[in-house]
Amino acid sequence: MTNNVTELPGRDDYDLERAQAYFDRLIADDSRVEPADWMPDAYRKTLTRQMAQHAHSEIIGMQPEANWITRAPSLKRKAILTAKVQDEAGHGLYLYSAAETLGTPRDVMTEQLISGKAKYSSIFNYPARYWADMGAIGWLVDGAAICNQVPLCRCSYGPYGRAMVRICKEESFHQRQGWEILYSLSHGTPAQKQMAQDAVDRLYAPALQMFGPPDDQSPNSQQSMDWNIKRFSNDELRQRFVDMIVPQAEALGLTLPDPDLKWNEERGHYDFGELDWDEFFAVIKGHGPANAQRLERRREAHEQGAWVREAAAAYAVKQAERASRVA
Ligand SMILES: [Fe+2]
Ligand SMILES: [Fe+2]
Repeated sequence: MTNNVTELPGRDDYDLERAQAYFDRLIADDSRVEPADWMPDAYRKTLTRQMAQHAHSEIIGMQPEANWITRAPSLKRKAILTAKVQDEAGHGLYLYSAAETLGTPRDVMTEQLISGKAKYSSIFNYPARYWADMGAIGWLVDGAAICNQVPLCRCSYGPYGRAMVRICKEESFHQRQGWEILYSLSHGTPAQKQMAQDAVDRLYAPALQMFGPPDDQSPNSQQSMDWNIKRFSNDELRQRFVDMIVPQAEALGLTLPDPDLKWNEERGHYDFGELDWDEFFAVIKGHGPANAQRLERRREAHEQGAWVREAAAAYAVKQAERASRVA
């Protein structure tokens, strides 16, 4: 489904110019672009890639946590973690649906993911080793996701912005549940506090890298900002996140593993140390500790779900036949 006037018969350059002018005005007015509106191919392509990557991240991101559902330390923790992992599946589904309105079918996006062609958030290629990791993932990873996603509620593409509103509400529950797990552990036995600190030590830097490479190594960011897809640069969002979590870490009684972290009176922000970008790019390219395992598991789940897709398709055909008979 594309509504690109360049693909419609009988349109001339005049129509294209008018369509472009209408699109430019929507963006200048900070209005919304909807699926039926004409949009430049590059805008469609950029959004499709970003929304599909976002959907893939939600779906792959279920794995490190789902792995802990059976080992949650109490029935209450198990119920909360199950609800959280189900929320992430829901986020993936909203986002695939929103991305499909740009013309790429979901099975194509799925194929790109399981073939290893599509990217997803680098953080999910790190293993979740201990129960405290569920706390650190909720607090840091969902916390970084909120910083990233709240501005996306105002994204110029309507279906993406609207999907983000509900997703952000659920992400804030995720962050609180993670913070609460860490709070219980950091106020528990010395061994529990140590487990919480260890989880934060391992996940802090990868969480900061969730905002993407530094601005000077992120060449497409400016275009996304000009199109009102992104509202803040990677470095601005990363700074916002650091400023948010420093007081939260103090309240937890845990330290953040960065000797360069200190308040800068002049800037009114926390300064923080350089991140290991070589590691980040290696993980993105598929060389993180859990990349192979994550994709393997996703492929397996996709194969095992084939009968559900076939049954749903057969049911849809049956319903359509019944509806046409009634009509
Ligand atoms: Fe999510
Ligand atoms: Fe989440």
